[in-house]
Amino acid sequence: MIETVRVELAERAYDIQVGEGLLPRAGALIAPYLHRSRVAVLTDETVAGLHLDTLREGLSAQGIAMSALALPPGEATKGWPQFERAVEWLLDEKVERRDVVVALGGGVIGDLAGFAAAVLRRGVRFVQIPTSLLAQVDSSVGGKTGINTRHGKNLVGAFHQPALVLCDTGILSTLPERDFLAGYGEVVKYGLLGDAAFFDWLEAEGPALARGDRQARIRAVRRSCEMKAEIVARDETEQGDRALLNLGHTFCHALEAATRYSDRLLHGEGVAIGCLLAFELSAKLGLCPQEDPSRVAAHLRAMGMKTTLADIPGDLPDAEALLALMGQDKKVVDGQLRFILARGIGQAFVTSEVPAEAVLSVLNAALARR
Ligand SMILES: NC(=O)c1ccc[n+]([C@@H]2O[C@H](COP(=O)([O-])OP(=O)(O)OC[C@H]3O[C@@H](n4cnc5c(N)ncnc54)[C@H](O)[C@@H]3O)[C@@H](O)[C@H]2O)c1
Repeated sequence: MIETVRVELAERAYDIQVGEGLLPRAGALIAPYLHRSRVAVLTDETVAGLHLDTLREGLSAQGIAMSALALPPGEATKGWPQFERAVEWLLDEKVERRDVVVALGGGVIGDLAGFAAAVLRRGVRFVQIPTSLLAQVDSSVGGKTGINTRHGKNLVGAFHQPALVLCDTGILSTLPERDFLAGYGEVVKYGLLGDAAFFDWLEAEGPALARGDRQARIRAVRRSCEMKAEIVARDETEQGDRALLNLGHTFCHALEAATRYSDRLLHGEGVAIGCLLAFELSAKLGLCPQEDPSRVAAHLRAMGMKTTLADIPGDLPDAEALLALMGQDKKVVDGQLRFILARGIGQAFVTSEVPAEAVLSVLNAALARR
């Protein structure tokens, strides 16, 4: 069964389809969006080796021809050299204004391909087929596209909504466990920021979901997409509420910068640790019950996830240096650090009024546990 989540954005509205076995049916699902029977696919080499043939067969079953470019896997691909390569290839392939570009891969491919589609011939449509859990629940939805530069992550890009998102939860079975759990960090984030009942459900079903329970995976992806779709529909370009999706991210970005975006810490791992730190900060400021951060920590531990700074291998800078790294976050407004804090599980809010001493105290306590 395919479940559909609609992202309500007037003339840019689109569907997210969630279910098992969508890739073999991609031809029928994508055909209504095509003016001619061909698509250009951007993917990475790992995903291509595992899933590109299934996509090719699914498309050719509907008479749709496909050409594909597989880029090297990994965050380093999300920069100017591979971006230029992708755009020139799309032009070589004579992709026209009314054609559709398909992104088959994790967040790296989705962000790069989406940005390529945004600028190619001043904008062509694109379809996201996210293959990592992080991409299915987060990066493929909402239209943020872009690449990294030597100045930092995601600094060049565009808002460009996809025409369609196909989340085939069956594809997740080939994802390495560490990447799966990193994506789960973003799933937990949704419960923590706005849906306490969803967090209760994750506490009960998370371990089965990680072991491969198909229905649980579909439900978790669908609920995450619903929550993101609803927030994006309220605030597409992040003037207000969309910042709630950054729960845990201010801490996460500092930790990612401190570990130089290496595989010492994956983005979703940093989000999970960052969510816990945000709850510790909220409890310290008397905003949420003291039990909430303990409950968050217990769930992350039960899932076998990185929970504390001690779980990050290697040295970390001191609390002052981490705070300074938070100040480099591109979401800083007029020099004011913005935090997403919580009045309880499922009750996040945005604030700029956080005393630096409280942040330092939470960071010092976390570093002391190392
Ligand atoms: N646009 C947004 O709103 C948004 C939101 C969150 C994150 N992001 C971006 O997403 C990126 C991270 O995404 P990611 O974690 O998917 O990283 P990724 O694209 O690098 O994928 C992680 C790894 O998993 C492999 N992989 C993907 N799907 C697989 C599958 N089904 N089977 C086996 N291997 C598979 C990839 O080859 C890669 O090695 C970052 O660049 C981040 O900035 C964007």
